[in-house]
Amino acid sequence: MSVRHSHVVGRGPGRMTPDGCPIDLWTALPAGEIPALLESAIRPAGSVLDLGAGAGRLAHPLVAAGHSVTAVDESLDMLDLIEGAATVHSTIEDLRLGRRFDAVLLASHLVNVPDDDKRAALLATCREHVLATGVVLVQRYTREWVETASGTIDLGCGVVSEVAVRPAAGADLVAVRAAYTLAGQRWEHTYTTRVLDDEQLDADLARVGLMLDRWLSDDGRWVVAVPGH
Ligand SMILES: C[S@@+](CC[C@H](N)C(=O)[O-])C[C@H]1O[C@@H](n2cnc3c(N)ncnc32)[C@H](O)[C@@H]1O
Repeated sequence: MSVRHSHVVGRGPGRMTPDGCPIDLWTALPAGEIPALLESAIRPAGSVLDLGAGAGRLAHPLVAAGHSVTAVDESLDMLDLIEGAATVHSTIEDLRLGRRFDAVLLASHLVNVPDDDKRAALLATCREHVLATGVVLVQRYTREWVETASGTIDLGCGVVSEVAVRPAAGADLVAVRAAYTLAGQRWEHTYTTRVLDDEQLDADLARVGLMLDRWLSDDGRWVVAVPGH
C-alpha cells in the first residue's frame, strides 16, 4: 500500500486505496439514508462532483436520481467500479477541471485530515468547482461523534464495524481504530483525525472563500457550505 496518506493505515485482504480503504468492503457497504439526505440539498437533475467517490456508493444513487455525476478518485481500482458517471483519476487537491457544478460532495470525513494545509487544499478544490448558486456538501466528524462512536454496529448487507476512538497527542486529534468484517473477511483501518466543531470548520471554510450555511443532518455531521461573499 502507498504511504501517500501518512495518517492512515489499512490492513486486510484484497486491494486497497492509497488511504487504506479496502475495495471489496466499500463495494459492499450500503449507503443507508445518505443519498436521500444529499438529494434534499441538490437541485433536481443538477450536476454533482463527487470527490473521493470510491466505488460509487453515493454516486450511483445520485445517478439513478437523475443527476449528472462526475466521480473523482485517486484509486483506479475504485473508479473502475463506477457506472453511469464520468470518472476522473486525480487527487482531490490537484483537481482543476475548469468547470463548476451545482453540488460538490466531500464525504467520508476527508475534511477531518489532521493537516491544516491539506484540509485547506481539499476545501479549495470544492470552492474552485462549485457554482455561485451551488452547494458544497461536507461530511465531518464532530465532538459528539467522538463521544458516541466506540462500539459495534451492524451496518447492513453483512458488514459489521467495531470502532474504538481515543484521544491522540495534539489539539482536537483523536485516534480511530475501525475493524470491519464481511463474509469471513476482516479489515482494520487505523487513522488519526481532527475533530471539527462549527467554529473550526467555519474558519477552514472562510480560508478558501466558503461559509457554513446549515446542517444537513440533526447530528451536525453533514453540513452545507456555500460560496462566501
Ligand atoms: C472511504 S472511501 C469512501 C468513498 C465514497 N465517498 C463513499 O462514501 O462510499 C474514500 C475514497 O476517497 C479516496 N480518496 C481519499 N483521499 C483522496 C484524495 N486526497 N484524493 C482523491 N481521492 C481520495 C479513496 O481512494 C477512497 O476511494
